[in-house]
Order: sequence, then structure tokens, then C-alpha cells
Amino acid sequence: MKIAVLPGDGIGPEITAQAVRVINALGLGIEMSQAPVGGAAYDQAGDPLPAATIELCERSDAILFGSVGGPQYDTLPRPMRPEQGLLRLRKHFDLYANLRPAIVYPELAHASSLKSEIVAGLDLLIIRELTSDIYFGQPRGVRINESGEREGFDTMRYTESEIRRIAITAFQAARGRSRKVCSVDKANVLETTQFWRDVVTDVHKDFADIELSHMYVDNAAMQLVRNPRQFDVIVTGNMFGDILSDEASMLTGSIGMLPSASINAKGFGLYEPIHGSAPDIAGKRIANPLATILSAAMLLRHSLGQEAPARRVEAAVRKVLAHGFRTADITEPGCKQVDTVAMGDAVLAAL
Ligand code: IPM
Ligand code: MG
Repeated sequence: MKIAVLPGDGIGPEITAQAVRVINALGLGIEMSQAPVGGAAYDQAGDPLPAATIELCERSDAILFGSVGGPQYDTLPRPMRPEQGLLRLRKHFDLYANLRPAIVYPELAHASSLKSEIVAGLDLLIIRELTSDIYFGQPRGVRINESGEREGFDTMRYTESEIRRIAITAFQAARGRSRKVCSVDKANVLETTQFWRDVVTDVHKDFADIELSHMYVDNAAMQLVRNPRQFDVIVTGNMFGDILSDEASMLTGSIGMLPSASINAKGFGLYEPIHGSAPDIAGKRIANPLATILSAAMLLRHSLGQEAPARRVEAAVRKVLAHGFRTADITEPGCKQVDTVAMGDAVLAAL
């Protein structure tokens, strides 16, 4: 079993280092090799996704990814920006199914920005389509229009097969949970998402055991903070999923707790925390490594077929929380506040 480790920028190297320690401690003989991505790769090789990095990923069974981006790269031409490294990886490996679980651990319900009685016990899975939509639609750009004025434009588009496969992912995922899928769209305004709704409804005919509902994205954004426990699986497009998953992360107390998996049809995947590179705290050893450690658990489960070790890692994370270990983002009086490395130590000890 081989993992390509792409630490990236900002806090990426600090948090992936802790996940690597956890994977090593499992004693599964997993081989791990590192390669640069994002701004770090631009600095080293003039490209946010160098060919050598793609080749390493191709020779591996899965990718463990840190985070990319930083203010020093914001003025680069778009193809050179760190985010392009990630978007190109998603496209290159056709990682269309993005799983973003949002779980409220009992110990962290107080850290949520919502009242704990609203979020207690929340266990939500956002399934975001990741390789299409307005993120990748052509044409796009800035042009001079017929009136001679400059205008910016992007294209939202979805093919039927792209919608079908992500709908199937959602219905299948719901089978292992509470059998409820809510598909989020903006069918009242956008043609693409009316089409999305029609195709999801059609795919649902093969999943009669699953309850399907539809919701407009504005309402979904509201319902997520009004009564988040009404949801089990949410399936949505690339852009709405980007926004709703950040919102959902806050329900759980900290964006530093949320892992994600981005998987293709062959089960190959990229695993990353949903948070960004947090340049403001990079190098200070205060970042929370748990989202990356939980991403490593998802990697073991979905790409390496190692269910038991995945559960061990998840149980270890639960245990360190129960024992009162907290990084700065989730700390509270009376807890043991620890830095990034000490949190890694605590997970290893719990393992
Ligand atoms: C995410 C991020 C990315 C996205 C950025 C870094 C390109 O926000 O994974 O949610 O928009 O998909
Ligand atoms: Mg995002």
C-alpha cells in the first residue's frame, strides 16, 4: 500500500506530519512519499502541480493532502495559483464524489456557534459533486461585451452522466445510514439545477428504499442553522457544496475537525481536511491536526479497504477528546490545551 503525501502550504505541513505519524503507528507497512503541491510547488518548480507530483500520485493507492494557498500567491496569474494544484488533481483523477461528514462530538457541542441542544448528536454527510459545475464549465473569462463594456462570466453546466453518478453515490451512502437523501439545488431559477433535480428524481427510481427530498439552496442554508438534525445525506453540486460544507463545519464547533474524501469510480481518492491553509497561524504549532488525522482514517477505509484500522483511528480521536485534550480552536476552561504535535502525541497514545 502506497500513499502520496502532499503537505502543501500554510499549516499543511504541520498537520499532515501528525497524520503520517498516526498511519505509521498502525504498523500496516504503508509506504509514504512526499511531493510538493500548491504555492510550495510553485516556489520550487514554477507550477502548483508539477508533473513529478502527478506521477507520484499515479504510482500510489491514495493521496493524503494538507492544504494550499497563501496571500503571497493571490496576485499570480490564475493558472499559477495554489488552488489550481488542487482543482487540477481533482479533475485529473476524476475525483467526482466528495464526502464531507459533519459530526458533533459530545465533548465539542459547546464549541458550536449554535446552541448545543440544536447540534447535539448531529451526524450529517454532505456529498458534493467535485469535478464539474461552474468550477470547470467553459467558456469563462472577462470579455468586452456588445456595449463595449467589460464583463466577467462563468458557465454552470452538468451532464446527465455526471449527475447520475453522484446521485448513485448519495443513495448508496444513505443505505448505510438513515436512508434519507436531500438533494439541494436552485431549480426555481437555474436551468442546470432543474435538470439536476430531474435526473436525481429519475435515479431515485432504482432506490425505492431511500427517502428523497429536494430543497432550494437558500432554504438549505437556513435549515442548516435552524434544525440541522433534519438532514442525513445532502447531495449537491460543486459550488453549493463548497458553501454548505463550510457552513456545516461550524455546527460541529471547529472547521479544524472536519475530514473529507474525494473519490473516483475506481476507489482512488484524495483525502484532505476541509479547512484551508490558515496562513495566519502557520508555523505557530497551534493548528488542529484532527481533521487531517480523520481524513487519514477515511483514506484507510475508502481507498485501502482497511476498515478496522480506520475505526481504530476514529476511536482514538474520540478518546483524546473524552480525555480533555484540545487545540486552541476547540479549547475551553478545564481542558488540557495542547499544541499540534502534542495532539498528535495524544492520538498515538490513545491508539
Ligand atoms: C474546498 C476549497 C476549494 C474549493 C478551494 C481551495 C479551491 O474551498 O475544498 O472546499 O473551492 O473547492
Ligand atoms: Mg471550500
